[in-house]
Formats: sequence, C-alpha cells, structure tokens
Amino acid sequence: MTIRLNSRRDFLVRAAKAAAFGVSGTAGLSRVSAFATPRTPAFAADGNARLIPYGAAVQSDALASDMAYRAAIIANCQLIVPEGDMKWPILRPARNEYRFEKADFLMDFARQNKIEVRGHTLAWYGGMPAWTAAIDSRAEAERELVGHIETVVSRYRGAIPSWDVVNEPLVDWPEDATSLRPSIWTKLLGSDYLPIALRATAAADPDTQLVINEYDIEFKGPRFAARRKALLQLLRSLRDRDVPLHAVGLQAHLFAERAIDNDELQAFLASIAALKLDVLITELDVIDYELPGKVSERDALVARKAAQFLQSVCEVVRPKAILTWGLSDRYTWVPMYFKRPDGMPNRPLPFDADLKRKPLFDVIEEYRRKAV
Ligand code: XIL
Repeated sequence: MTIRLNSRRDFLVRAAKAAAFGVSGTAGLSRVSAFATPRTPAFAADGNARLIPYGAAVQSDALASDMAYRAAIIANCQLIVPEGDMKWPILRPARNEYRFEKADFLMDFARQNKIEVRGHTLAWYGGMPAWTAAIDSRAEAERELVGHIETVVSRYRGAIPSWDVVNEPLVDWPEDATSLRPSIWTKLLGSDYLPIALRATAAADPDTQLVINEYDIEFKGPRFAARRKALLQLLRSLRDRDVPLHAVGLQAHLFAERAIDNDELQAFLASIAALKLDVLITELDVIDYELPGKVSERDALVARKAAQFLQSVCEVVRPKAILTWGLSDRYTWVPMYFKRPDGMPNRPLPFDADLKRKPLFDVIEEYRRKAV
C-alpha cells in the first residue's frame, strides 16, 4: 500500500488543505506565484470553518460583461472553477502557443475577491484542439502532456489548491479499470497517461490536491455499478503503484429521472475513504429535460434529487467542497445536450436566470452545514 500518503509531510499538507482548502502555509514565498490567493475569510477559524466550501463553474467572458452575474458569484462562492478557460483549446490554440489571458483574468478576479480557484482540467479526452491529433509517438505524447502540465500548473503554483488532473478516464460502460476512454493519451501512452499526468502535476505544485474527476457514479443500474467498480479498481491500482493522488471528484450531473443508488454509492464512498482519498462534489447540477414544465414543481423535484444525493454522500464522507456546474440558469451547459422537448429553458442550477435563489440553493446550504 501507499507509503507516500501516509508520510508525515503528506499528512500535514492534506490536513492543511482539509482545514482550509487554502494555500499551504509551508510554501515559501518564492514558490508562490503572483496569483496566490490569501486565505479567504470563508475558511478562517470562525463559524464558517464548519461549512463545506461552496463554489461554481464560471465563464470569464460572462464575468467580464455581466455585472449582476459577477456580483452573484462574489456574494455566494468561496470557490470557482473555470468551465472552459483552463481547457486545452483555450490555453493551447496551437502547438507552440500558450494563451493565458482568460485564465489570468479569472485568477485576478478570484484574488481580488478572495475566492479560491480549482483547476480544470489537464488530461481529458474531450475538447482537444485539432493540432493534438498530429502527435504521433509515445515520446512526443509524453513531452506534450508533461510540458503542458509543467507550464500551466507551475504558472499558478500556490494559487490553485486543487486540480482536476484527470477528467473522465472511463468509457461509458467499463468492464474494468483498463476500460479507458480512447484519447490521444491512451492511444500513445496507454494507461500510463494517468500516472504521468498525476506525477507531473505533483512535481509542478507539490501542495496542490490531485483529483480524478468522473461522472455517472451515483445511479442505480448495471452500467453505473460497472462504473463504480472500475473506478475503484483504477484508484486502487494507482495507490498500489504509489502514484500521487488525493481525491476523487464526483461530477454529479444528476438526471432527475434516474434513481440514486443509496446503498451502492455509500459502499463505494466507504471504499474511497478506506483508500484515504478525499471526496469532492465537482459539477453538481440536475438535468431537468424530462421533468414537468411547471416551474415550481420542477424546481422542487430538482432540489429533491440533489438532496437525495447529498444525503447519501454526507452520511458517509464529508466532501471537501461542493461545486455546481454554473451558478445561474442564465449560464448552463445543459441545453447544449439536454434541451427540453417543450422548448422551455432548463433550470438545473441553484439560481434562476434572473439570479433569484431556487430551492436547490437551500438544499446545498443545508448540507454544507449538516455533513458529518
Ligand atoms: C462542458 C462545458 O460546460 C461546456 O461549456 C463545454 O462546451 C463542454 O464542456 N463534464 C466536464 C466538463 O468535466 O468539463 C464539461 O463542461 C461538462 C461535463
């Protein structure tokens, strides 16, 4: 079993993160980038310290242009995560070009408002810029992946206390841990892409929390059972090889019509805890395309679905953070894939399109307080 995570240093680093999700006090000033966020009041040793930090995915363009949205983010979020601004197509429009304008804008916004930033994401099959298809040898793939991680993670070292290093590693219906979703990385590096990415991130920022982020983990049914089993196997195999890893992100894009498998989800989370991995809820929203149109009814069902999920999770572990994939229905990815057949706008998020609080917000508030 892993030695690394049981070492005293790791314990201290993890304890500091668990307490504050903040910039580690052990980091020398010279190691902290210009983007470092001072510890936020939300995580200080006052009443708020007992609350699970809440955050949302944000879009830098909207933050720059929509002042009401920007104010709502400042008022409600202790954390933000870029919805797209730290993905490869934005950071790497061409092989030899790094574009940090949007990511830097977001980091400046966060620092000015004492909000923490999670990074998303370094190794993902999805949304890769076209030029990466020309990568054609193992050595080149390793150079590109590691080079990207070194450049991006060290730019924000000390300022991003948690990274989704690997996003969505598994195929939809995996047989086991080897059922990895095909990508340029699996094509050329096989399953080694995971340890390569995790080690490169740890090397570039030894204090950042390393997260593997996955979706469709919580529901009832054979496909979801297969996903839980394969993910657990994958995490165990990384642990057994001493690969640095600190947490699992449950995306939690909940489908209103799918049942949460309370027992199996809790068993899965207990196994995660036994591996000494933390849990984060990283992309919560409730996909409402099959729910009734009536808004009050729909909002209540959305809130209830999230409550079932959070209840199940929080009985077993205390998530280190709860983030929704957007704050307001004004900016949500859901209609890109799950438009309602009746043409009404989707309502998957804690605030409506007019930035009014919905029942989902109250549910999240409740579990931020209630968690074990
Ligand atoms: C989505 C964004 O929300 C969209 O705007 C983008 O076009 C595609 O990606 N799981 C993830 C996120 O990990 O990165 C995805 O974000 C949503 C599903």
